Amino acid sequence: MIKIYESRNYYRVKIGSYDPVIKFSSPGEAEIDSGSLGNIAGNMEVSLAKDSINIQFDLDPSSHVLGLGERAFGIDRKRKKLISVNKDPGGYVRGVDPIYLPLPFFLQLTDGACLGVFVNHPGKVLFDFGVETYNKSTVTVFDSGCEVFIFKSSSIKDVVRSFIELTGKPFLPPYWSIGHAISRYTYYPASSVLEIIEKYQKFVPVEAVYLDIHYMDRYKLFTWDPAKFGNGREFVEKVHDRGTKVIPIIDPSIKSDQSYSLFVEGMGNYIETPNSDIYHGKMWPGDSVFLDFLNEKSRDLWKKYVTEFHKTGVDGIWLDMNEPTILSEDHLLDANAIHHLDDGSPIIHEKVRNAYPYFQAKATFEALSSVSKEPFVLSRSGYAGIQKYAAVWTGDNKSSWDDVKLQISVVTSLSISGVTVVGCDLGGFFSDSDPEMLAAYYRMALFFPLYRNHKTINGNDQEVFLMPSKFRDDIMASVKLRYDFMDYIYSILYNSHSEGVPAVVPLPYEFPLDGDSYYAEDEYMLGPGLLYAPQIYQCREEREVYLPEGNWLEFWSRKVIKGSAYYRTKEKFPVYIRENSCVVYRKKIIVFGKGKFTLYISGQVVTVDSDGAHVEVTPRVDGYTAEVYS
Ligand code: NOJ
Repeated sequence: MIKIYESRNYYRVKIGSYDPVIKFSSPGEAEIDSGSLGNIAGNMEVSLAKDSINIQFDLDPSSHVLGLGERAFGIDRKRKKLISVNKDPGGYVRGVDPIYLPLPFFLQLTDGACLGVFVNHPGKVLFDFGVETYNKSTVTVFDSGCEVFIFKSSSIKDVVRSFIELTGKPFLPPYWSIGHAISRYTYYPASSVLEIIEKYQKFVPVEAVYLDIHYMDRYKLFTWDPAKFGNGREFVEKVHDRGTKVIPIIDPSIKSDQSYSLFVEGMGNYIETPNSDIYHGKMWPGDSVFLDFLNEKSRDLWKKYVTEFHKTGVDGIWLDMNEPTILSEDHLLDANAIHHLDDGSPIIHEKVRNAYPYFQAKATFEALSSVSKEPFVLSRSGYAGIQKYAAVWTGDNKSSWDDVKLQISVVTSLSISGVTVVGCDLGGFFSDSDPEMLAAYYRMALFFPLYRNHKTINGNDQEVFLMPSKFRDDIMASVKLRYDFMDYIYSILYNSHSEGVPAVVPLPYEFPLDGDSYYAEDEYMLGPGLLYAPQIYQCREEREVYLPEGNWLEFWSRKVIKGSAYYRTKEKFPVYIRENSCVVYRKKIIVFGKGKFTLYISGQVVTVDSDGAHVEVTPRVDGYTAEVYS
C-alpha cells in the first residue's frame, strides 16, 4: 500500500495504487524499505479512510509555514486551513481561499530547518497547519492514492531548488516582456488601441499591449472582430511600428457553433459528461465546450490553431479563465465531467482539475516555440511545473491599500513555489483605484518580473497619461527606475532560468533563522542581494524598514547600515544591497563586498569577480563600468 522511492534529493512516497497524470521523477530513483516512513520527516504518518488519505507531520508552535503557491494571505500559513483547487473567486481580497493557482507544495520551517513537502495530486487537497490538531500539519487528499515528495535537505533554498529541479526550470521570458505593459478589459477598436499607446508613450514606454476579449469575433478563439480590428494583421503591424508587442487573450471556452471551424474540428476531443455527451458550460461566447487538454489529440489540435494564429504577427498569448472557469455560481465545472488521458482512459474532472491549465499552457508554449524564437505565454492558472511554460499574474485583485501590500506576499509565495516569472495587475483589477494608489502599485511592484497595468471593464480609467501631474510624475519615476535596474532584473531571471532558483522572494527565504523576517510583509528581495522596502502607505512619506542581520549598503547614499535593525526612512525608493552582492544600475555594475557573480547583459553571460577592493568583469561589456564598496 505504501512504497517509498529514494533519489539524491527526495523521498517519493507512493500511497495506494496511483498513477499521476503529471509525472515527476529524477533519474536514479530506487525503492527502499517502506518501514522507514516515520524516519523520513517530522514523524510522518499516513492513515487511510474510505475515500481519502490523511498525512500528518509534527508541527511545533515555533514553526512557520510558507509556500502553497498563490494565496491571498501574508507570509505564514500556520493556523490556517487551505485548499488546493484552482478556483476563480470572482475577485479576491486578503483571506479568500482558494484562488487561481494554489500549488500543493509547502515549506515548514522550524528553527530555520526546512521540511519541504510536495503532494503530487491535481485534485482537491486540504492543508491544515495546526487548526484541527494543534501540533500537527495535516494533509488530506480526496482519493484512494497519491504520491508525496519529501525533500531531503533542511535548507529552504536547497528544498526550493530541488522542487524546481523536479518540476522544471522556469522558461526565460523575452526581454521586452518584463518592461512596462498596458492592458484593459477592453481596449477597442484598433484605432483606440493605437491612440492609447501613443498617449502613454509621451510619458512612459509601452513594451506590450494585452488585448482582452473584445478583439475576437463574437468571442470565437483565434479570430479577430473584422469591424473593430480587420483581419488583425495590419493592426498588429501598426502596433509593432510603435515599438510595442501584442499579446491577445485566449480562453479555453470554444463557442458551440456548427459554423465555427474549431468547434467542428474539436469533435471527439472535448471534456464529456458522465453520459459521454459533450460537456457544455456558459462562458463569454454563451454556450461553450472545452477541449480536453489532458489528451494529446486535443493538444495537437490546439497547437495547430496557435501556430496558425501566430501568423497574424502576435507576440505571445495570454491564457485566461483556464482553472478552468465557467460563468456559474461557483465557477466550477461538473466534478464528474469526464476527461480522457492520452491512452484513452477516462478520469473524472475533480481528480485532475488542477492539471488542466498546465496542459493548456504546455501546448500553447510548445506551439509558440515551434514558430517563434521568443515564445511568451501568460497564464492565470496552472499546476506545479507551470513555470516551464508560462508567466503568471495573480488574477483579479481588488484595488485597495491593503492589496498593494498583499500582492507582495502573493507574488513572492508563487515565486518560492517555483513560479518565478510573475506579477500582478498594477492599479488593481476590480473596484476603483485613485491616482495616489496607482502610483503606490507602480512603486510596490518595481522589482516584480512582470509590470503590467490592467483594469476591469467597469472600473475607473487608470491610464497613466490621465493621472494628475503629481502622481503621473511619481509613476514615471517608478517606471524609469525599473528600466535603470532592468539589467539586474533580467540577470536574476536568467539565473532563475539557468539555475532553477526563484527571483523575487520573501525575507525568510534568505533569512530563515531570523524570526522578525517572517513579519516583514511589506518588503521583498530580488535575488539574494537586493532588498526593497517600497513606500506603499497612504498619505505617508516615510516608513519603517526591517533589515535582517548583516551589513547593507543604502543604495542612494552608499552608506552602510548594520542589521538586524528597524529604522525609518523617507527615501522614495528604499533599496538596500546586501553585503557580498552585486547589482546593475544604469550600466554600472555595483558590488558591495566580495564574491563571484553571474550577470546576463545584452544577451551574454558576464562574470563579476570582486575581492572587496578590485572588481573584474569578464568579458568586458562596452559602456559598462564597475564599482566596489566595502
Ligand atoms: C478575467 C481575467 O482575470 C481578467 O484579467 C480579464 O480582464 C477578464 N477575465 C476578461 O477577459
